Amino acid sequence: MQSTVQVKRGYNRLAGLYDLLKQLVFGNALNRAELHSIEWLKECDTVLILGGGTGKFLESLIRLNVKQIIYVELSDKMIEKTKKRIEKNNENTSRVIFVQKSWEEYVPEEPIDAIVCNFFLDMYPEHSIKRIIDHNSLSMKQGGIWYITDFYLQAESARLNKYLVKTMYAFFVTMCSIEARQLPNIFSCFSAKEFDEKVRLESNYLRQSIFQKK
Ligand SMILES: C[S@@+](CC[C@H](N)C(=O)[O-])C[C@H]1O[C@@H](n2cnc3c(N)ncnc32)[C@H](O)[C@@H]1O
Repeated sequence: MQSTVQVKRGYNRLAGLYDLLKQLVFGNALNRAELHSIEWLKECDTVLILGGGTGKFLESLIRLNVKQIIYVELSDKMIEKTKKRIEKNNENTSRVIFVQKSWEEYVPEEPIDAIVCNFFLDMYPEHSIKRIIDHNSLSMKQGGIWYITDFYLQAESARLNKYLVKTMYAFFVTMCSIEARQLPNIFSCFSAKEFDEKVRLESNYLRQSIFQKK
């Protein structure tokens, strides 16, 4: 297990620069990828976001008129940035519950329709990803969905993309003490016995999948 104290310290240090770095390295690619299937969340009463960062996706979700959004984020500085972004853009935060905790300390009190993990599960090796899925699936309604956007490499992926992801891991392991040392196969952690894959979109080094609980 990684130390959440060190991870929190790392992301707190990074919070002020996070959006700029993301833009410099990936342009708008990550922001675009995470928004592709957002319409799937439109009919949800309660959406849980894990590791929402500086709140770019949250902003779009608020505009979709989801009734309740639970925003679980370890870093207080990331939450601060998120709140500033939302206030600046005059979005309504009354439907957002901010929870400054690690995912394992949070157990939803109400049934959840959807769980969003955008560039969150990549911080963990596969055995920890399975723990995250098990821990949260218990609170998910039958037919609820996992909305996942993340890095995805295959044997035939371009060498440049492999190098980009490798460099990114070196950076996040050093800066934020993340648990994973290399990109896990995130999407294979959702077993076909428990989930149906309803959406799958791939481009270069990214993938978005929506897994529906059976
Ligand atoms: C790589 S960033 C992704 C942020 C955002 N989802 C995005 O797409 O830009 C990972 C986020 O997860 C948060 N985080 C790290 N460990 C966490 C944990 N144990 N529980 C909840 N959030 C965590 C970090 O503070 C950071 O904001």
